[in-house]
Amino acid sequence: MTNAVHSFYVSLAVSALILTASASAQDPVSTSAMADSDSPVQRGLYLATAGNCMACHTREGGEPFSGGVSFHTDFGVIYSTNITADETTGIGAWTEDQFVRAMHEGKSADGSNLYPAFPYPSFTKVSEQDLKDLFTFLKTVAPSSYSPPDNDMGFPFNQRSLMGVWNALYLENERFETDDSQSEQWNRGAYLVQGLGHCGTCHTPRNALGGLQTDQALSGGTYNDKVDGEEIRPWSAVNLTSAPDGLAAWSEDDVASYLKTGHGGMGGTFGPMNEVITLSTSQLSDSDVRAMAVYLKGMQPVERSPQHKMSDADFRAGELVYTIHCGTCHLPTGLGDPSIGPAVVGSAVVQAEDPASLINVIIYGAEVPAPSPAGAWKTMEAFGDKLDDDEIALLSTYLRSNWGNRGGPVTEADVDKQR
Ligand code: HEC
Ligand code: HEC
Ligand code: HEC
Repeated sequence: MTNAVHSFYVSLAVSALILTASASAQDPVSTSAMADSDSPVQRGLYLATAGNCMACHTREGGEPFSGGVSFHTDFGVIYSTNITADETTGIGAWTEDQFVRAMHEGKSADGSNLYPAFPYPSFTKVSEQDLKDLFTFLKTVAPSSYSPPDNDMGFPFNQRSLMGVWNALYLENERFETDDSQSEQWNRGAYLVQGLGHCGTCHTPRNALGGLQTDQALSGGTYNDKVDGEEIRPWSAVNLTSAPDGLAAWSEDDVASYLKTGHGGMGGTFGPMNEVITLSTSQLSDSDVRAMAVYLKGMQPVERSPQHKMSDADFRAGELVYTIHCGTCHLPTGLGDPSIGPAVVGSAVVQAEDPASLINVIIYGAEVPAPSPAGAWKTMEAFGDKLDDDEIALLSTYLRSNWGNRGGPVTEADVDKQR
């Protein structure tokens, strides 16, 4: 995974370089100067970065934006399409209207319904002008002739027409509306987080049919990532509201620094956020990243995790594992140290309702992207061979029950699921 992230990053930097070489921007490799550019192509590239189109539309070893990435959903496997300017296999022959309709309504050029593995339920918020700029940029992407494999979905989900019903139930086909009671900065952050940033795709819980539960927006969701191509590893995307089991303990600076560098006082990236941060948020302007932090920190708390009390014997057993293996870096107080490792007290990963990401970081260690955006911290090693499922379950429950942390008990079966 790390290699794939690295090569995406390099090709994004290269495409930025090519674009800026033909226009006169001050910073040749950073896209952040492009947000307010006079050139629609540069603004479009910036928007493509904010939407992370590249990550989902570039398979390992494939040409940028040519598609073929597989997404493993509860309903089957869906492949991303070719969105290069190729006229037959890509979107080179599309009209601007067809593109805007795809982004707002989830319909392909021929009018057939697309699957919401493509985050159009978020992209629907994006303004028409931004989508026009995005389309202008995509038209400049080198055409690549490639068609992804057929989707692997069983009946009835292989019927695209079914998505018409899904859209009627779950698609709020509406553009972002400015909230005049909030600052311009808050509104900019809300627009990016809800729209192109599509943070809710992973961080908002879904119902049984995959619809986003918008009344609990950003309070925590799940995401199935791939390991080395095919093996699936489930993750929990943490609660981003200001609840105690979410970002309550994070300052605005912590959030901004995390999104910009992958590293902040309260946590570091080590899973699916690697791609989000290296390809998207770290490339955005400081003011846009700050706006996202302002919006997230202003969200009403939605508590998801219950309080749990362990038996004294279990508590002591969990504490022992922590002291031997974890306390040197996260400290006996759990408060961490800015130069060694983040706090586990108040950690959103530790307290997430679904413990998948907590278990992953213990079993597999912190798989940080290369080159590490954080730099400052030593990598946390994998404990999957040192600790058995029973010890990891006890340790995880201990972390969720100590220091005022929240979170239900973690069982051996929960740990086994992540192996
Ligand atoms: C989370 C992954 C993901 C992200 C991010 C994403 N896409 Fe996609 N996209 C997909 C998938 C999967 C499909 C195929 C859906 C289908 O076949 O029903 C798709 C389909 C499309 C289509 C329809 C193409 C066709 O031939 O019908 C367009 C257009 C598109 N994406 C544009 C974009 C743009 C522009 C961005 C960035 C702003 C973007 N996508 C970001 C996953 C993603
Ligand atoms: C060598 C020091 C070290 C040791 C030992 C260590 N960790 Fe870590 N841990 C880190 C670092 C550094 C990070 C941040 C990694 C990153 O940048 O993503 C981290 C991240 C975490 C996180 C994610 C925090 C968040 O909210 O992002 C959790 C949870 C965690 N460690 C738990 C543990 C547990 C449990 C143990 C014992 C089994 C342990 N760690 C042992 C250094 C360590
Ligand atoms: C592809 C799914 C996905 C998307 C999209 C996504 N996240 Fe995450 N996010 C995760 C997962 C999984 C974790 C926990 C593990 C990790 O570090 O990857 C997480 C963790 C976080 C954390 C907490 C980190 C910690 O260590 O406690 C923050 C803050 C965050 N995401 C913000 C965002 C924002 C803001 C966006 C939108 C710009 C976003 N995420 C988009 C999956 C996602």
